[in-house]
Amino acid sequence: MTAPPVLAVQDLRIEIAGQPVVDGVTFDIAAGETLAVVGESGCGKSMASLGIIRLLPDVARQSAGQIELEGARIDTLPERRMNPLRGGRIGMIFQEPVASLDPLMPVGKQIAEALALDGSIASADIRPRMLEMLERVGIDRPDLRAGQYPFELSGGMCQRIMIAMTMIRRPVLLIADEPTTALDVTIQKQILDLMAEMRRETGAAVMLITHDMGVVAESADRVAVMYAGRVVETGTVAQVFTRPRHPYSTMLLRTIPRLDGARKVALPAIPGAVPDIRSWPAGCRFNTRCPLATDQCRAAVPPLDPAGAPGHASACWHRDRIDTELAP
Ligand SMILES: Nc1ncnc2c1ncn2[C@@H]1O[C@H](COP(=O)(O)OP(=O)(O)O)[C@@H](O)[C@H]1O
Ligand code: SF4
Ligand SMILES: [Mg+2]
Repeated sequence: MTAPPVLAVQDLRIEIAGQPVVDGVTFDIAAGETLAVVGESGCGKSMASLGIIRLLPDVARQSAGQIELEGARIDTLPERRMNPLRGGRIGMIFQEPVASLDPLMPVGKQIAEALALDGSIASADIRPRMLEMLERVGIDRPDLRAGQYPFELSGGMCQRIMIAMTMIRRPVLLIADEPTTALDVTIQKQILDLMAEMRRETGAAVMLITHDMGVVAESADRVAVMYAGRVVETGTVAQVFTRPRHPYSTMLLRTIPRLDGARKVALPAIPGAVPDIRSWPAGCRFNTRCPLATDQCRAAVPPLDPAGAPGHASACWHRDRIDTELAP
């Protein structure tokens, strides 16, 4: 029997005040694989990840679906069994590294405490391991830095500390929600490279949430494109980048900056904005912004169907018109 995926999310639905902000989302991630979940702000990426680790805000609740970690359901676990998974087998990295750290504790101590939670390591070994980990994530002068507080370090350094703190416990699943969005571009690349290195070393499955197709190109194996709570296209990065099968993906790809800093088309690359959750249109939710929309799109929800190559799927009634009518 082949091993189950590290994370399997099946038909996940999360509601806020009766409105589905995550609406029938299905994906899985294998060991050592990075799945990017990409889409504009407000499409439900963070809600999906918070649903997986069960840290949804009070207003939100999971109303359907199931979530499995290494083949065992976690969405039905009692909180006393869920809690140790967070920071243990499931590592989490968020957008604001400085805010994610304890402002009142030296960073070295924070990493040491994470390590001590593991229980399997002798206390005499904790400090050397912590210093070694600081070095591993590219912190210069670990002995000096370990004694510093988050406010004394740059955002990029704080994100390195977060990665050290998370990866030192060797999670099987790493959820990174916009881990580089708050950082400047050169630091962004360094942090993505570091995450990739850590993934290779530990074999973790990575769920990388981003609004940036450039980050997807840089870091992911597969991608799930979300729009208004739904996955509208999924496939390998090569499949989706070379032959997108959803108009929204085509348009997102146009937003990738070129090396000379210009964009391929005049901004905005995607006219309009994600509609407010209270006014999501009937049928395909992209129909208010889609250049290919027809009456069929306004009437019926397109299913996420196979789109040619194995593993590639999209939810669009008119995917066959994309090649001829939507220039990349
Ligand atoms: N605490 C909250 N209370 C009410 N609505 C929220 C809250 N957080 C997020 N939402 C709504 O849930 C939807 C999905 O948000 P989110 O998952 O944060 O999007 P993303 O991470 O893709 O930018 C949005 O419509 C957002 O307005
Ligand atoms: S189903 Fe229709 S509106 Fe939706 S993406 Fe496809 S063509 Fe556009
Ligand atoms: Mg978010």
